[in-house]
Amino acid sequence: MLAFNSRIGIIGSGRLGTNLAVVLANHGYERVSITCRKSSAKPSIQALLPKVTIFDNNQDLADFSDLIIVCTPDHQITTVAESTTWNSQQSVIHCCGPLSYDVLAAASDSGASIGSFHPCQTFTGNINIASVNKLFEGTLINISSDSPTLLESLSHLSRKIGGIPISIPDELRPLYHVAAVITCGSLAALMSISMNIWKAIGLTESEAASALKTLSTTTLANVHEHGIPASLTGPILRQDFETIDSHLNALMHYSPEAAGVYALLSKITLDGSSLPIEKDPNSKDVSNRYTDLIERISSCLESPR
Ligand SMILES: NC(=O)c1ccc[n+]([C@@H]2O[C@H](COP(=O)([O-])OP(=O)(O)OC[C@H]3O[C@@H](n4cnc5c(N)ncnc54)[C@H](OP(=O)(O)O)[C@@H]3O)[C@@H](O)[C@H]2O)c1
Repeated sequence: MLAFNSRIGIIGSGRLGTNLAVVLANHGYERVSITCRKSSAKPSIQALLPKVTIFDNNQDLADFSDLIIVCTPDHQITTVAESTTWNSQQSVIHCCGPLSYDVLAAASDSGASIGSFHPCQTFTGNINIASVNKLFEGTLINISSDSPTLLESLSHLSRKIGGIPISIPDELRPLYHVAAVITCGSLAALMSISMNIWKAIGLTESEAASALKTLSTTTLANVHEHGIPASLTGPILRQDFETIDSHLNALMHYSPEAAGVYALLSKITLDGSSLPIEKDPNSKDVSNRYTDLIERISSCLESPR
């Protein structure tokens, strides 16, 4: 079990590293430290984390820590592991979603225990001390380790900060992680299509943002409260084929790329066995029109973009 006076060092004061330092400090971990390579960024980090020690470099932090959490971009994790001197009393973990702890092999070669700790949550640089704890509450945290003792400590740490520890097999990590990215970054990209369309037809930035907020907030609330099938609305559900046709025509003119995205999502809506699209089995007309729609969608997906 990780004691509250354990020395926890975080390498990287970016989005996750800073949020993690805040949540650890908020939950009573007394000896948290973090690296910050840019001297210009130190005052704002120190203001956010008055009790946290800030180090200029990875080795000084590692020498001062029992548990080291590598919070660098994924492609830097192995470099950090290979360029730091570790010892057998230490535990070193990374926070990357798709990679196994093998990328920390250099630390393991020095006798350290290694592992991973991936909170399935989105962290930005807009850190509000009062709301950081909420980001971890109920968040799945994928943990793994080559040491049962470290795994137990990571499970305990996850629960202490409000998370729910789980262990996904290494070979499934990329799939597990891409689902998180689709829910987060891809959703934001999808919303940017709507924002851009609304602005292109003359809405101001704030009108477009307001429309986006109202619709997306209601949709997400419906999904959370009633589940996905019951939250589905729109022309496919209503069998409004002319409406869908007008959408595809408008989008092909506006942006074939956006038309492709809409066509693909419409295909997923039509195909999705969990979505409540009811086709009247006795209506030949409806059945034919679904077939026509699928052909139209396929042609949009195939058209060169
Ligand atoms: N953000 C999220 O939502 C999120 C969620 C779950 C997991 N993660 C994982 O958390 C890790 C960090 O992601 P992030 O979004 O926090 O990245 P980030 O905001 O880009 O921050 C990365 C930090 O690492 C520092 N850094 C880069 N190379 C370094 C090195 N060689 N030695 C020491 N520090 C170095 C950077 O410092 P400089 O500014 O000086 O370059 C920066 O402070 C990744 O593995 C990511 O997959 C992120």
